[in-house]
Amino acid sequence: MYKLAIIGSGNGSNFEAIVKWFQDKGVEITCLSDAEDAFILKRAENLGIKHQFLPFEQNFEYFSKNEFDLVVLAGYMKILPENVLKAMGKVINIHPSLLPAFKGKGAIKKAFLAGVKVSGVTVHYVDFNIDAGKIIAQYPVFIDNSMHLDEFEAEIHEIEHRLYPIVIEKVLEDKVFDFQDLMKSVCSKKKEGGGCGGCGQH
Ligand code: GAR
Repeated sequence: MYKLAIIGSGNGSNFEAIVKWFQDKGVEITCLSDAEDAFILKRAENLGIKHQFLPFEQNFEYFSKNEFDLVVLAGYMKILPENVLKAMGKVINIHPSLLPAFKGKGAIKKAFLAGVKVSGVTVHYVDFNIDAGKIIAQYPVFIDNSMHLDEFEAEIHEIEHRLYPIVIEKVLEDKVFDFQDLMKSVCSKKKEGGGCGGCGQH
């Protein structure tokens, strides 16, 4: 059984998408947050997932004592120092832009206000440079002239929720992420409503 730690500071919508994806797939998930009142912890409670408040200063001690196959950052808003990253082992993050563009906080709004016509989502390994580890997967979101910020934001989150769980599964299994996997998952969803989603497999 794989052991997965998901660590976030806020809302936890990615956490919830990941939990739903791994339901009945034999993955043990632990939810951690550096913010005691973060909604991610409430979601974990509601979903019956082991969870705890983990103050930033206790990260090193916690991850030195608790081993995981993979640590997943999902809206974790603090910068992790080198010793903590080493103790964590393999760490990945999701960022709401096409890195290396729009690093740091507020990336969705920054991209929108900059007037770019394409932004998107990046899943990457975390190393000692901020938002700059090796890219595992990216997915574009196009911004047409009539698109509002809230529509753009909603589309970014929808892509995040579809992309992150599949990439996590591949990383856990030590397999290469392939866009066919994403297409198939979209396709099977569409098939329930009738018709192929265009994955080329039917
Ligand atoms: C997500 O959009 C994620 O990409 C972003 O925080 C949000 C968390 O949402 N992360 C970063 O900006 C990291 N630099 P969630 O708590 O609902 O999953």
